[in-house]
Amino acid sequence: MSALAVRTGALNLGQGFPDVDGPPSVIAAAVAALEHGANQYAPGIGIAPLRAAIARHQQRHYGLEVDPDREVVVTTGCTEAIAAALLGLVDPGDEVVVLEPYYDSYVAMLTVCGAVRRPVTLRAPEFRLDPDELRAAVSPRTRVLLLNTPHNPTGTVLTRAELQAVADIAIEHDLVVITDEVYEHLVFDGREHIALATLPGMWERTLTLSSAGKSYSFTGWKVGWATGPAPLVQAVLAAKQWLTFTSGSPLQPAVAHALDHEPDWPRALARDLQARRDLLCEGLLDAGLTPHVPQGTYFTTTDISHLGWTDGREFCLALPERAGVVAIPTQGFHDDAEAGRHLVRWAFCKERDVIVEGVRRLADADLIR
Ligand SMILES: Cc1ncc(COP(=O)(O)O)c(C=O)c1O
Repeated sequence: MSALAVRTGALNLGQGFPDVDGPPSVIAAAVAALEHGANQYAPGIGIAPLRAAIARHQQRHYGLEVDPDREVVVTTGCTEAIAAALLGLVDPGDEVVVLEPYYDSYVAMLTVCGAVRRPVTLRAPEFRLDPDELRAAVSPRTRVLLLNTPHNPTGTVLTRAELQAVADIAIEHDLVVITDEVYEHLVFDGREHIALATLPGMWERTLTLSSAGKSYSFTGWKVGWATGPAPLVQAVLAAKQWLTFTSGSPLQPAVAHALDHEPDWPRALARDLQARRDLLCEGLLDAGLTPHVPQGTYFTTTDISHLGWTDGREFCLALPERAGVVAIPTQGFHDDAEAGRHLVRWAFCKERDVIVEGVRRLADADLIR
């Protein structure tokens, strides 16, 4: 859809990357690292200052005591952390329970691992986790629960009660939970992101993944990490050894700088994003599309069936010509395509002017099928 936006000159309200870069002091730290010799392979586990900064971040935000030498590994974005975690922990034939709609790399990596996917659907219009559905998806062959909160694409932030249900099931069935928390700081309306690893009995079975991409608006840097008990982190490291072996050297000190010296930046970003969320949601409403107001992330979702469309993909392919705007069909994030066929995702991590112009175009366009 991004290629379609470029080809047609349409405004891209589809893909989730911000229009504006993160803090200048962090860019300056990367430049300094480049100029001062951080240009050869970093240690596979990540440079010590970044691992220490990640451990302090987990302490500061969640009260978790993480050993930077044994319980942290730096990865090439959260995407590599997901890949390495699954490759390190899942054997062919193992079942993995995963929330859907899902970030698309989950499916690719589960396929590479030979895992059997057991999706649990967050259903429109509220996109909440049904603990009974989760429990029903677990079998004696289940090895891992793959969680994502705040959740892309629905914007759901799992509540303490929902996370407790996950914890209860994981403990009862002795499962490992891989939890993708890349949007950990991008939560709205005074909500709190709760790290699953903080729930009683969960640290020892939880691998927590995140990255600097979303929190600091450096999605192109691809510096991520996994934290958790040493045996789980070791499994990630063992797989990472053969994926990339090591992640970009000059960006690691810069991300350490971000975590240590710009700790409030992600909060300010979240406040700003909340305002842009409201702008987009109000504009979509004015254009005759009813948005699901997300609790976190970059995204809102609309149901397009009342406009006569039964297929979000068809709608999104028609949208550049009809309105000069690009959005993303949600069905690609589902095993159960029916659950997502009528849904379309819109990103608000864009400059205000882009959102204003995008919703103006939508309001002026004929969106009826
Ligand atoms: C849920 C989720 N996990 C992981 C990622 C990728 O993170 P990174 O860019 O750090 O690899 C994304 C990016 O869109 C995402 O939405």
